[in-house]
Amino acid sequence: MAQHEKFNFGSLQELKDKIQALGLQLPCTEDLSPLAAPVKIGGRTAPNGMAVLPMEGCDALPDGGVSELLRSRYLRFCAGGAGLIWWEACAVVPEGRANELQMMLTDENAADYAALLEECNWAAEEKNGVRPVHILQLTHSGRYSRPVGHIPAPIVPQRDPILDERTGVRDDSAVCSDNYLDSLPARYAHSALLARQAGFDGVDIKACHRYLMSELLASHTRHGKYGGSFENRTRLLLDAVAAVRKVCGPDFIIACRFNVFDAHPYPYGFGQQKDGDVWAFDGTEPMRLAEALVGAGVQLLSNSAGNPYYIYPQVTRPFDTSSQGIPIPQEHPLQSVERLFSFTALVQQAAGQVPVIGNGYTWLRQYAPYFGAANIARGACRMVGFGRGSIAYPDAPYDILHGGMQPQKCCVACSRCTQIMRDHGRTGCVIRNGAVYAPLYRQYRAQADARAGKAAEGAPELV
Ligand SMILES: Cc1cc2nc3c(=O)[nH]c(=O)nc-3n(C[C@H](O)[C@H](O)[C@H](O)COP(=O)(O)O)c2cc1C
Ligand code: SF4
Repeated sequence: MAQHEKFNFGSLQELKDKIQALGLQLPCTEDLSPLAAPVKIGGRTAPNGMAVLPMEGCDALPDGGVSELLRSRYLRFCAGGAGLIWWEACAVVPEGRANELQMMLTDENAADYAALLEECNWAAEEKNGVRPVHILQLTHSGRYSRPVGHIPAPIVPQRDPILDERTGVRDDSAVCSDNYLDSLPARYAHSALLARQAGFDGVDIKACHRYLMSELLASHTRHGKYGGSFENRTRLLLDAVAAVRKVCGPDFIIACRFNVFDAHPYPYGFGQQKDGDVWAFDGTEPMRLAEALVGAGVQLLSNSAGNPYYIYPQVTRPFDTSSQGIPIPQEHPLQSVERLFSFTALVQQAAGQVPVIGNGYTWLRQYAPYFGAANIARGACRMVGFGRGSIAYPDAPYDILHGGMQPQKCCVACSRCTQIMRDHGRTGCVIRNGAVYAPLYRQYRAQADARAGKAAEGAPELV
């Protein structure tokens, strides 16, 4: 593995030279036309091949409804020109919220989401002449549930000797019963129905980043109908897909964002070889899952990987600087990018005609479009997604279609937005939207330090 380095490339050629020196396979092209081409998703068409990936702001109203920060984020995304907006994690049950301000669609607040979607489409049409496809991510946070204040309230499918202590699991009382899991497909279906009524084009049954559905995929040691065999570990996900299809009908998009690789050893990780090596990927089950999802009528996929809460967050998002307590990765960020690209290509191959949205682009800054266009051109994905890149630079898709990205607007992969989440605050881009988020960053850091029993030694520095 090569040494970790910060991004420091003055030209596309310098970046290509580094890729070559590292012996990586990262094709790129200066023909950006593949990004501009429309993409058919179920019965809808995204007007171009660029997507906003789900990016939680942890800033909804206490009942999960539309706050002003949430509203302004989605208005910026929609005016920004992406062909698809994959709305952030939205809890299907109150006890499965990752924080007390996580989005949650309810009978009471659904009309506010309907009004926001209308406003978003109006903003998109005014700026770009077209409206994006809207997908809402439905989630249960499982091990990472924290619905009230700063108190973890984990709900886990299996005990995990590596994660239990870090996540507040002390005994088997945190392990959920089969009866509890049996009750969840109806909750996904109800949230999906509300989403459909509000004007979303589809929902994602989230199965990534080691939240409940993701950890279930890896629950080799669980007994009963949801653990052990591949059929049992994928049961809840496929039951939720069937339940949503039943209530929402054939013309509603069902999507799935799932972890292809957990970077967590067998028998606690998914997509792992059985030798217990954290880094040994085995694609057999993830590809079988992609095929099963397509067979079940899922019309859009997005791959992710890793556990953003654990010590290898570069597997999920390649970065320059990590959040607190995370060791410097033992690999170059371009190797982390290549891993994500290779997973997308595998999933796209397994998914056939069903579009897959790739990720891993933000670290590449203003050069990302050249790699995205090449990946679409070679059939390694149908759309290109931006996560941190979207909160830093929401109008990047517009700029890409009108002359190119501006380096001074790009995400710098500093992990401060993640740090705010870890400090239990409302998050956004601390660097490119500093007027709003730099003071919040300082405030939450100081509060987290105080909670940790440390005297906050002055305000943390910002670069
Ligand atoms: C602050 C923050 C919030 C995120 N929220 C979500 C989320 O709600 N759902 C999800 O699937 N991924 C979430 N992610 C992961 C991103 O969607 C994306 O996979 C990751 O950042 C890598 O893409 P990027 O390199 O373009 O940023 C989040 C990431 C960050 C940094
Ligand atoms: S705070 Fe902004 S610049 Fe830093 S990683 Fe997050 S989105 Fe990127």
